Amino acid sequence: PLPAPFAVPLPIPPVLRPRTDAATDYYEITQRAAVREILPGVRTEIWGYDGQFPGPTIVSRSGRRTVVQHENRLPVPTVVHLHGGHTPAESDGYPTDLILPVGQDHAMSHSMPGMGMGMTDHRAVVTKGTRTYEYPMHQRAATLWYHDHRMDFTGASVWRGLAGFHLVQDDEEAALPLPHSERDIPLMLTDRAFDADGSLAYPSLDPTLQDKPGVEAAYGEGVLGDVILVNGAPWPQAEVDAARYRFRMLNASNARRYRLALDPPPPGGAGLVQIGSDGGLLAQPIAHDEVEIAPAERFDVVIDFSRYRVGDRVRLVNRLGSDTTADVMQFVIARTARDDSHLPDQLSRIEMLDPAKATVTRDIVFRTSGGGMWTVNGQPFDPNRADTIARLGATEIWRFTTDFHHPVHIHHSPFQVLTRNGRSPGRFDSGWKDTVIVEPAGQLSVIIRFDEYAGRFLYHCHNLEHEDMAMMANLEIRP
Ligand code: C2O
Ligand code: CU
Repeated sequence: PLPAPFAVPLPIPPVLRPRTDAATDYYEITQRAAVREILPGVRTEIWGYDGQFPGPTIVSRSGRRTVVQHENRLPVPTVVHLHGGHTPAESDGYPTDLILPVGQDHAMSHSMPGMGMGMTDHRAVVTKGTRTYEYPMHQRAATLWYHDHRMDFTGASVWRGLAGFHLVQDDEEAALPLPHSERDIPLMLTDRAFDADGSLAYPSLDPTLQDKPGVEAAYGEGVLGDVILVNGAPWPQAEVDAARYRFRMLNASNARRYRLALDPPPPGGAGLVQIGSDGGLLAQPIAHDEVEIAPAERFDVVIDFSRYRVGDRVRLVNRLGSDTTADVMQFVIARTARDDSHLPDQLSRIEMLDPAKATVTRDIVFRTSGGGMWTVNGQPFDPNRADTIARLGATEIWRFTTDFHHPVHIHHSPFQVLTRNGRSPGRFDSGWKDTVIVEPAGQLSVIIRFDEYAGRFLYHCHNLEHEDMAMMANLEIRP
């Protein structure tokens, strides 16, 4: 039986403390299995960064190098990707750049979807036991996250818990009077399913996640769960002051999209005031009644609970859900309190990329092929093929078309939406993005500029089951 909603307090993932020197923050994380109580009174094995789900939060300062050493104490290889990071290729977490488990000497070869047995990637850099990722952090303040990205097994590994927040702060944002400290809260939304014995239920073809990739045929469109977790807790409740709060909402679900709203809405509506997108602050706040968030997207919103009365209960609901997935969490307005925050009309200045400067326009198709394969431009992923070759420093326009809902993610650089379905960008397309939903039969064009780092990167669908079933492509950036 599922627990009653709003019975568990909202957990906040702990912030990891670095060792520092003049220019760098150093972190160490151990990836390991742990037993946690997610459903009250039930023991569940997870795979977590430092044994936690969500993993510990890293907070970086823009311009200050962050170095994270990961030790792999899990039974399978892993890969860490900093999602939204502007990161050199060696540290970007390419899916075959494996960290082998401590004590394991060889990567197993397995069949990759569509590529047959024993396919190897000649450029893969495999490390044994540990790997050190270096993030220069030449990027503005934003809500990033880190997660597993192992070839063929990302969906199953993230489902077990390999995901955490990585926030970037900068002077521009710190100078604004936004809600901060205990009133700046990350919310990681995931859906999960549980077996009767309390274990996380995921329909892998190989439950050891060693050998045969993929999910049972019925789950090819993506794996959904019936329990909504926020920061790893089922339908939690948070006691809040009657004051403004900033919530960094991340959809870390494998395949579920949410349309989030406050129920009841505050008097006058527009209770979710968006201040940031994947790539940091918007130019101006945008007031929404509802926010649609696809897998891997982030929406930073301010909710002003002083618009409610003390004692009110306000649910964060999911209007795309049904039954148990229609509720997300609940806020209880516990007390009046001082609030020195305020929401400026102007948040940031955003350089708008200029389509006249684009030197290349590409058409990119995300579609199924026959046989349950998800493809980009008609082909399943092959690490040895350069699908898209871009010049370092170039501005490009990419036009996506699809046959299904696909949250499209590009590594390396953020982008801006130019058009959606032939019209101006939609209500949820503002600001710098790194992941964007493309609807069935829809068209979306984005503009992107590839600065600073050459090398091999990726773009892919962030529905993790689609991704694992080969809906990825290489982005080769050449000097
Ligand atoms: Cu969040 Cu390539 O992934
Ligand atoms: Cu997809």
